[in-house]
Amino acid sequence: MSTIDLPPVFDVFSIGVIIMTISSMLAALWQKYGLRKDPLRDIPGPFLARWTPLWLAWQVRMGRRYLVVHELHKKYGPFVRIAPNHISVAHKDAIPVVYGQGSGAFDKSAYYHAFVSDKASIFSTVDRQDHAHKRRLVSQAFSYKALLSVAPLLHTSLNNFVDKLDEISTREGWIDALSWFNFLAFDILSDLAFGEPIGMVLKESDTVAVMGADGKITQENAIALVDEREHLAAVVGIHPWFKTLSKFLPDPFFIHGHKSSTGLIDLARRRVTKRLDHGSSRDDILNKLIDARMEETGQLTEDQITELIAETVTLLIAGSDTTSNSITAIIHLVMTHPPVYKKLMTELISAIGPDGVPRHENVKDMPYLQAVIDEGLRYYATTAIGLHRAVPRGGAMCLGKFFPEGTEMSVPAYTIQHDATIWRDPENFRPERWLEEKDLGRYLMTFGKGPRQCLGRNLAYIEMQLVITTVLLRYNIELKSSTLETTEGFMHKPLHMMVKLSRRI
Ligand code: HEM
Repeated sequence: MSTIDLPPVFDVFSIGVIIMTISSMLAALWQKYGLRKDPLRDIPGPFLARWTPLWLAWQVRMGRRYLVVHELHKKYGPFVRIAPNHISVAHKDAIPVVYGQGSGAFDKSAYYHAFVSDKASIFSTVDRQDHAHKRRLVSQAFSYKALLSVAPLLHTSLNNFVDKLDEISTREGWIDALSWFNFLAFDILSDLAFGEPIGMVLKESDTVAVMGADGKITQENAIALVDEREHLAAVVGIHPWFKTLSKFLPDPFFIHGHKSSTGLIDLARRRVTKRLDHGSSRDDILNKLIDARMEETGQLTEDQITELIAETVTLLIAGSDTTSNSITAIIHLVMTHPPVYKKLMTELISAIGPDGVPRHENVKDMPYLQAVIDEGLRYYATTAIGLHRAVPRGGAMCLGKFFPEGTEMSVPAYTIQHDATIWRDPENFRPERWLEEKDLGRYLMTFGKGPRQCLGRNLAYIEMQLVITTVLLRYNIELKSSTLETTEGFMHKPLHMMVKLSRRI
């Protein structure tokens, strides 16, 4: 990652002071001019959150939003005001209201403008028609049938991964498994979405060549680019002004974040341009995305190429560390729950046997593995925050309360996934619950809900099933720590997972 040296005066403390100063000024203004008209005044929440969006932005910046919001719901109940115009609703009946389909559906709020670089993508567009159009183009590449045709590419990446891990695990003592799952997930996604693997596993590094708009090539760390870009967007999305204002803040967090957004676009531009110039008969997602546009217009316009680049960046961000973070958390949970490990291994060994790297057809129908993955996603919560939506024209009722048009609302994923009225003993990691009870998936928020739910869910499950099975069958795993330290940007992510590996078979 490129570094920028700034005077020590711009440390977290100074930034905190600046933020608090601005926030109290805003609070005073708000109090003077806004109090009487405040339609959300009855909803409880922290004092500062009532007056300024900076309170929530600060929680996100510190990587602890989901926990703070979880604690607030314990204190105040189902409704909490987490920003002047944002209500968090922790109740299962709020899920179909906030994330439902149909004419009264809530659209994504202006929060998502922060995720737009050159052009809005399927993930970041807030316009319903634009989204429907983009989703039609992109979803062709993600049907289960289309994914089966890309499964061989996955198998190649996985083979490279275990070869490398075999070598590393004998060469080194403790290794950070999270980095290796990240390398693998980025290789798989770049292979599918950019038409070539970035080659992180083979290089043992996430360094990539990035071409700027001026044609200059620099070396950047791709994983850091994604992390920084995503965390920046999650902070500045809290208020429409923040994105522009943050470009002038002399804080490394914002400087790196903005630079990373550009870096990712450059990374994609280089690869998409190469594919368009040279073509390929390869059966991958990039070709499917190009074909879908060609079918529509016969040839690609400049605008469509920019859109294609935005779409590939989205896929890389949406599909890489989300999957590797989930795999890391699930393996950590399995290894810290010996009865689960034992039961899972019995299923894996009897279904797959000892040889080689399993293929998709070997792992797709294993009930206990599926239950372990779902329980891991529930308990750990890769998506832990509530995803922002805007109340549509005319306002909306939610749990008997009226919310005016334009109010931002969200249902906090972690809190729902740990809600004792939905899950029996929610603080226990117990995969069996998924085999005992039907329809629990209704309350699993990890992939989002409704019309904007995750498009890559099938691919994510295929990847998680394959990687978890391969790693558990092939290696004995010793964890350095039974605690998984995590942080949060837009997604909830482990900081590392140190392990010692030795071949089991
Ligand atoms: C375990 C892994 C994954 C998790 C937890 C996850 C989670 C999510 C969530 C929560 C959303 C909704 C976001 C929102 O409403 O703001 C989403 C959307 C999306 N995800 Fe995933 N995702 C995962 C894997 C993937 C993969 C592998 C891909 C494909 C490359 C992918 C592509 C997308 C896309 C394109 C969207 C936008 C869908 C739309 O707005 O129509 N995701 N994902």
